[in-house]
Amino acid sequence: MYSDKVMEHFRNPHNYGKMENPDGVGRVGNPQCGDEMVIYIKVENDVIVDVKFETFGCVAAIASSSITTDLIKGKTIDEALKITNKDVVNQLGGLPAIKTHCSVLAEDGIKAAIDDYLKKKKEKEQN
Ligand code: FES
Repeated sequence: MYSDKVMEHFRNPHNYGKMENPDGVGRVGNPQCGDEMVIYIKVENDVIVDVKFETFGCVAAIASSSITTDLIKGKTIDEALKITNKDVVNQLGGLPAIKTHCSVLAEDGIKAAIDDYLKKKKEKEQN
C-alpha cells in the first residue's frame, strides 16, 4: 500500500521529538481521524534553522511530517509557506488516495508553526 520512501520515513522519522524554546509551534488535528501533529521551528534571520515534530497518527501522517521537516529545514519563511501537501506527496513517492488528508496535516502544521512565529515576532516588535 505504501511506497518504500513512506516506510523508510515511518520507521526512521527525521527530526522527531520536542524542541526547547522554539520560535514557533503549530498544533493541528485532523477531525476525520483524530490524529494530531505538533511542529516546532527555530528561526534565525527569517530562515528555519531547526525543526522538530511529534505526530500521534497513522503511517502516512508520520512519514508526511518527517519529510516535511526535511523540506523546510534551511528554507526561508516565504519558501516554506509555498510548500504544499502535493510537494509532500511527491517527495514520498505518492500516497494512496484515501491517505491524502494525512499529507494535508503536515502542510497545515507547518503553516500553523509559521503563523505562530510571525505572531510572536510582531508582538516583540510592538513591545
Ligand atoms: Fe489520520 Fe492519516 S489517518 S492523518
